[in-house]
Amino acid sequence: MMHDIQAVRQRFAHDFQRPRYHFLPPSNWMNDPNGLIHWQGAYHLFYQHNPASAVWGNMHWGHAVSPDLLHWTDLPLALAPTPGGPDERGVFSGCAVDNGLPTLIYTGVRGEQYEIQTQCLATSRDGLLTWEKHASNPVLSAVPAVSGQTADFRDPFVWREADGWYMVVGSRIADVGGAVFLYRSPDLLAWEYLGPLFIGDKNVNGVIWECPNFFKLGAHWVLIISAHTGTTTGDVIYFVGSYQDYRFTPFFQAKLSAAQMYAPLTTVDAQQRRLLIGWIREGRDDQAMLDAGWSGVQSIPRVLTLDAQQRLVMTPIAALDSLHGQHWHYENLPLAASRSLEAYGTAFDLAADFSVEPQGEAGFSLLVAPDGHERVDIIYNAAQQQLNVHTIRAQRLVETRQTPHALAAGEALSLRILLDASVIEIMANGRTSLTSRVYASSAACAGLRLLGRQAHLRALDLWEMPSIWQ
Ligand code: FRU
Repeated sequence: MMHDIQAVRQRFAHDFQRPRYHFLPPSNWMNDPNGLIHWQGAYHLFYQHNPASAVWGNMHWGHAVSPDLLHWTDLPLALAPTPGGPDERGVFSGCAVDNGLPTLIYTGVRGEQYEIQTQCLATSRDGLLTWEKHASNPVLSAVPAVSGQTADFRDPFVWREADGWYMVVGSRIADVGGAVFLYRSPDLLAWEYLGPLFIGDKNVNGVIWECPNFFKLGAHWVLIISAHTGTTTGDVIYFVGSYQDYRFTPFFQAKLSAAQMYAPLTTVDAQQRRLLIGWIREGRDDQAMLDAGWSGVQSIPRVLTLDAQQRLVMTPIAALDSLHGQHWHYENLPLAASRSLEAYGTAFDLAADFSVEPQGEAGFSLLVAPDGHERVDIIYNAAQQQLNVHTIRAQRLVETRQTPHALAAGEALSLRILLDASVIEIMANGRTSLTSRVYASSAACAGLRLLGRQAHLRALDLWEMPSIWQ
C-alpha cells in the first residue's frame, strides 16, 4: 500500500509545476484541510479529497500524518460516503477533537444538489487509522429556522469549554448574508441551539459562510470565515472581537489572505500554538487539472498571534528552518533597478527587510525566464500602499493580484515569500498575506531578481528548499 503510494508520487517527479515542500495528496483532487489535530505527539491532517479524479466531486477524507507539520506520510482514506447513509453524496468538511477517543465531526451530504447537509461523527479505536461512523448519525440535522430553511449548513468546528462542547456551523440567512450558528452539547451527540453567533451582510462579505473557525487568541476572540459568493469561492475574512452571552461582537476585520487561499482550518497543539493551514486553490481550468493528474495544495502551517493593534499576525512555523538548504545572504544594498541574484531555482524561502521611500518600490522577480520576458514581479508600492503580484508573459502584463498594505512611519517593509513551483505564499510584516498560483511555461523559468527604486535592501536571506517526499 505505502509502496504503491510512493509509486504514484513518483509519477509526478518531473512535473515542474508540482510543489515540492507543500503538502498535497499522492494524486487527484484536494480542497479543504479537515480534522487537523495534534494527537499523542503526531500531527494528523485530513483533507477533502476526490480519490478518483483531479476535479471536485465524490468527497472523501484523505489522511496524512507528520511529526513536524512538514514531512508527511500518506495514510489510507479516513472517510468515504456510505451508500444509503447521511453522507452518501459526500463527506464534507469538519474538524477533529479529543473526546477520550479521537473523534471527527463532519458534514454528511445527501441529495442530487447536495441539498441535505447534516452533522455526523466518527471515532477511531486504532490510533486514527480506521474510523467508525456513529450509529446515531446524523447528530444534528435541523437547520435553524432563522436561516429561511437554507440548504447550506456545513463545516462544523468544535471546541471544549468548562460547561461542555461548543460547535459553530457555517450557513447563510436568505437575503441577509452569511451566518455562523452556535451550539452546545454535553456529549457531542445532543446539540442545543444557542442562536446565531454572528451574521454577515451579503453586500459586503459573501452570501454563504463556509468553514467557520472560532477561538480565543490572547485577550480576544477571533472568527474566521470563508465567504462564498453563491457562485464561487471568495475571500477568507477574519474578525477580532468580544464574545459574550453566545454572541460575537467584532471591533476589527480584514482579509486573512488575498487571492487563492480558501477554507483554512485551525487547531491548538501541545505547545499551545494556534496553527492554521489553508487550501491553496489551483489557478487553472478543469482540463488542465485533469491533464496534470492532481489539484490543490495546503499552505505551510502558520502560527497565529495578534499584534498590538489586534491585527492577525501569521508566521510560518519555525520548524520550516529545518528544511533550509543552500543559503544566500545580502545586506545593505541600494535599489535603483532590477538586479539578478546568483540563486537559481523554483523552491525557496525568502525573508527580506527593505526601507522604502514614500514614492519608492521594492520586491522581487521570481520564476524569471532566461531572457527575462517571462516572470512574476512581487512588488510593494509605497505611494499606493499596495502589494502587487504581476504575472508577465512575453514581456506583457497578463495578470495582477494585489492587496493593501500600509506601513507605519519608519516601519521597514518585511517580506516573507515561500516559493514552491506554482505556489507563492507571501506575508508582508506578518499581517498582510497574499497567496498566488503561477504556472511558468517551462522549467527554465527559474531566475531570481531584486527589484526596487527609491528603496534600500536592509537584509535578505534566502534558502533553497528541498522536496519533502524523498
Ligand atoms: C469549502 C467547501 C465546504 C464544503 C467542502 C466540500 O471549500 O465548499 O463548505 O464542506 O468545500 O468539498
